[in-house]
Amino acid sequence: MSNIVDPKEGYNLYADNYKKDYRKLESFDKGEFLKLLPDKVGTAVDLGIGDGRVAEDIKRVSQNFFGLDISTNMLHKCIKFHGNISLVNADLDYSIPFKSESIDLAVAYFLFVHIKDAEGFIGEVNRILKEGGMFLFNLIHQKKPPVLKAGKKKFKIKSYYHIPSHIEKYLDYFWFKWERFDVYEDKFWVSKIYRAIKT
Ligand SMILES: C[S@@+](CC[C@H](N)C(=O)[O-])C[C@H]1O[C@@H](n2cnc3c(N)ncnc32)[C@H](O)[C@@H]1O
Repeated sequence: MSNIVDPKEGYNLYADNYKKDYRKLESFDKGEFLKLLPDKVGTAVDLGIGDGRVAEDIKRVSQNFFGLDISTNMLHKCIKFHGNISLVNADLDYSIPFKSESIDLAVAYFLFVHIKDAEGFIGEVNRILKEGGMFLFNLIHQKKPPVLKAGKKKFKIKSYYHIPSHIEKYLDYFWFKWERFDVYEDKFWVSKIYRAIKT
């Protein structure tokens, strides 16, 4: 039996082990996702930065970089692995703690699966982005959360399966101009990557 825990508790428990999952995460879409980053931007935010798995890739294309996450243990790992990074501990399901129209690039990589209010979240990203700013994110085809282990504990982290057409409706609602890149394994999609531009 495994408990279902909220993302804050779950990633605090799992932070020591997260790095071991890099290969599995990369197998979804890493090459395809990172290729869609813009060449150079002013301010970028990594929403749900975790332990900073792709922080260096985003830092490389931005003049200012901030990482945000609900889990302090993941943020501690991020500092350990990447040193000098500006980090914010925040629950992004409610609001994103940046001024309106202050951000050029918002990345949410493997985050949507933990966001309950997808429409509210997309509205917040729309608010913080400057006109012409980019929102890059993925949706994965995960209907049930996997069982994770940390020490003797077994648990699942509370997850939400967002139907892509619903997310697309919210992007349209906020007037994003967007493109979708589907990544398949055999006949099934495993990841849908969205590049959305604020108009
Ligand atoms: C699957 S990990 C992805 C980490 C990183 N983006 C990556 O691609 O490796 C999801 C991250 O989102 C964070 N997270 C989950 N729900 C969140 C929320 N409501 N607000 C902020 N961060 C959240 C978790 O703590 C975790 O670090």
